[in-house]
Amino acid sequence: MSFSQIGVVGLGIMGAGIVEVFARAGYQVVGVAESAPAVEAGKANLAKSLSRAMAKGKLSQEQSNEITARVSFGEDFGLLANSDLVIEAAPEILALKTDIFSKLDSAVKPTGILATNTSSLSVTDIANATKRPEKVIGMHFFNPAPVQKFVEVISTAHSDTAVVTQIVDLGNSLGKHLAQISDQPGFIVNKLLLRYLNHAVQILDSGQATKEQMDAAMRELSGYPMGPCELLDLIGIDTCVEILKTIHADTRLEIDEPAVGMVQLVSAGNKGRKSGSGFYDYSEKLDVPTDSNDEVKNQVHNDLLIAYLGDCIAMEATGYATKADIDFGMKLGCGLPKGPFEVIESIGLENVRAAQAELAERSGVSAYQPLPL
Ligand code: CAA
Repeated sequence: MSFSQIGVVGLGIMGAGIVEVFARAGYQVVGVAESAPAVEAGKANLAKSLSRAMAKGKLSQEQSNEITARVSFGEDFGLLANSDLVIEAAPEILALKTDIFSKLDSAVKPTGILATNTSSLSVTDIANATKRPEKVIGMHFFNPAPVQKFVEVISTAHSDTAVVTQIVDLGNSLGKHLAQISDQPGFIVNKLLLRYLNHAVQILDSGQATKEQMDAAMRELSGYPMGPCELLDLIGIDTCVEILKTIHADTRLEIDEPAVGMVQLVSAGNKGRKSGSGFYDYSEKLDVPTDSNDEVKNQVHNDLLIAYLGDCIAMEATGYATKADIDFGMKLGCGLPKGPFEVIESIGLENVRAAQAELAERSGVSAYQPLPL
């Protein structure tokens, strides 16, 4: 199957980023959102991203014009009738997504593949809202979509293997690295990343460290491109709370319950960059967070890193994902300088194990205990 027209539903940061990825790769793209202001916001998101690339000399005006000319926008699902693939990038609310999929099922030609960019919801539940569940798949991009080179392809028990192969080939044509996985809450990256982000806010809530100390610790001591509070603001704190709720409903572990500090910010309307403020205020240009308290930074860095490495070991041990997929996911999906198994290799498994046991003992959280194996 060849893909000539790609549809995208939802034109927030992720939807507009996905539009850009396909238009840059030469595909004709139709972007649909629920209202005229949402369509305008999608157009503005695309224009801003292309201007940024032009300002950096990465794109000429002519190339930018060509990319823009490949995209059309509107509010009507009928515009998606001839799309070979439609990717949904609406907010993380299951009822909203199932409603969209049932409408897409009627609007899009029968041969069209329907994909969801859900971060953690059940792709199976979404597929069940259509009469073509074998053609419904998860295609999970990372923020910013034009920058991050990783895509998770999620199949369900319904999925037609030929559809999975076509989507993998399509993803490769975008220059992305793909991992094929089954339908589990949080998939590979969000399961690991959201627990780490939640852990950071739990530390913040306990008063052990400030947001600046935490962000500086992960940037300076592990070379992460952003600290956890900065990243929560980038992803959207509301989105993170929704993902954590889905993961928590599955694991029932206290460490997966959305941290109070996050829930309160969302209640106050401070959802992160998209609302102008979150952990930080974006009304003016921000400096990179710094802090000179090395003792606090070392402790926070140790605790966040060791808990995360333990989660990576546990995920690989369940057989859900390979070490290579986990390493690629964290490096290419989140811009980390090293994959977790590369970090474990350099620290030494025995040292990680000892640090896990020490963290579990000190914090009283049994979920941090190393696996018996
Ligand atoms: N859209 C398009 N391009 C963007 C961009 C955006 N919003 N933001 C940055 N870029 C591009 C820049 O143009 C620049 O491109 P070049 O290298 O070609 O010049 C590049 O990204 C680096 O940007 P900057 O130099 O301006 O800024 P930076 O070096 O601080 O990088 C960052 C910004 C790419 C966002 C980097 O900080 C990063 O990788 N952070 C981690 C982001 C992350 O973890 N994402 C995954 C979140 S999880 C998720 O998305 C899944 C989910 O379901 C929740």
